[in-house]
Amino acid sequence: MNDSILILTIESTCDETAAAVIDGDLRVLGSVVASQEKLHEKFNGVVPEVAARAHVKRILPVIDETLKKSQIQLSDLSAIAVANTPGLAGSLLVGLVCAKSLCLALGIPLLSVNHLHAHIYACRLATGKNVFPCVGLIISGGHSHLYHCTSPFDFKYLGGTIDDAAGEAFDKVASMLSLPYPGGPSISKIAVNGNPKAYRFPRTFINDQRLDFSFSGLKTAVRYTIGGQGKLDFSKIQLSDQEKADIAASFQAAVVETLVSKTIQACQQTNVKTLCIGGGVAANGEFRKLMTARAEQNGIQLHIAPIELCTDNAVMGAIAIEKYHAGQFEELDLDIVPGLVRS
Ligand code: KG4
Ligand code: ZN
Repeated sequence: MNDSILILTIESTCDETAAAVIDGDLRVLGSVVASQEKLHEKFNGVVPEVAARAHVKRILPVIDETLKKSQIQLSDLSAIAVANTPGLAGSLLVGLVCAKSLCLALGIPLLSVNHLHAHIYACRLATGKNVFPCVGLIISGGHSHLYHCTSPFDFKYLGGTIDDAAGEAFDKVASMLSLPYPGGPSISKIAVNGNPKAYRFPRTFINDQRLDFSFSGLKTAVRYTIGGQGKLDFSKIQLSDQEKADIAASFQAAVVETLVSKTIQACQQTNVKTLCIGGGVAANGEFRKLMTARAEQNGIQLHIAPIELCTDNAVMGAIAIEKYHAGQFEELDLDIVPGLVRS
């Protein structure tokens, strides 16, 4: 029994301040997520400085609430895990400094979490059984990457976006259509009334062997459809609700088809029959539908993280439990690594 092991996980890589308490058997005792969505709404995207300052204000109340929900005290903790890569530098620093200070004060070890690996691990948590080896796809506001995950410790980078992330494209296109931030849910909501075949938007690299994505050309194609080439004031564009719905549906279809096709290719190239998917864009209903159908056609066992574990949270930081059991602790000089390490 590992239920006497209690780990506090901290997540502050982007615009969610989150904490959770997990036991050694991967049971979640409590979890809190404080979203900053409202703070960034008016900028149509995350403003790093605003995000970092909001983390500073919220991190201790979020941890307090998590401990209260979990009905434990700080002194009951066995270790603290924190996501230190990748993410916004200022945001990462808040979580890391907080975790280190608590570890020092409590005399307990520090564990590091790779935020992208944690997104994949959300599937392991949800299914309750081993998912390794698998192909992992992370599709979020900042990332669209494919990994070959042979174990919870070994993630080999297979490919990813060479420009925008899928979620970023959703957010930018939503902004062009004057839809609220975050763009993913806004686009999928109006796309329900649109024709996905109204516009034939590009599906970059879809017939290519490389396991990379590119969404900036798609974003530009949508922009040209909305207002032609040249300088454009989006606030002056007049589109009917139907035109907006058709653009949203056609854009969504292009992203979804690209993501699904590349991911199936990744499974075929690695000869891996288990697929785990996480990140905010994995909440998209059309994506879930097409991915499920194609996985079935190709004999692939598919795990998509449940919606509440798709967007950023600290529960997925439970991947640190694997490190705890393996004795992989960090020194207190652990640093942040904001950029993507391709491994
Ligand atoms: O994983 P996440 O919460 O944060 C990051 O680490 O980036 O992902 C946020 C992204 C945003 O770009 C948002 O527009 C997108 O996920 N998203 C969606 C949907 N829900 C959230 N994209 C498409 N369809 C959705 N239903
Ligand atoms: Zn994320």
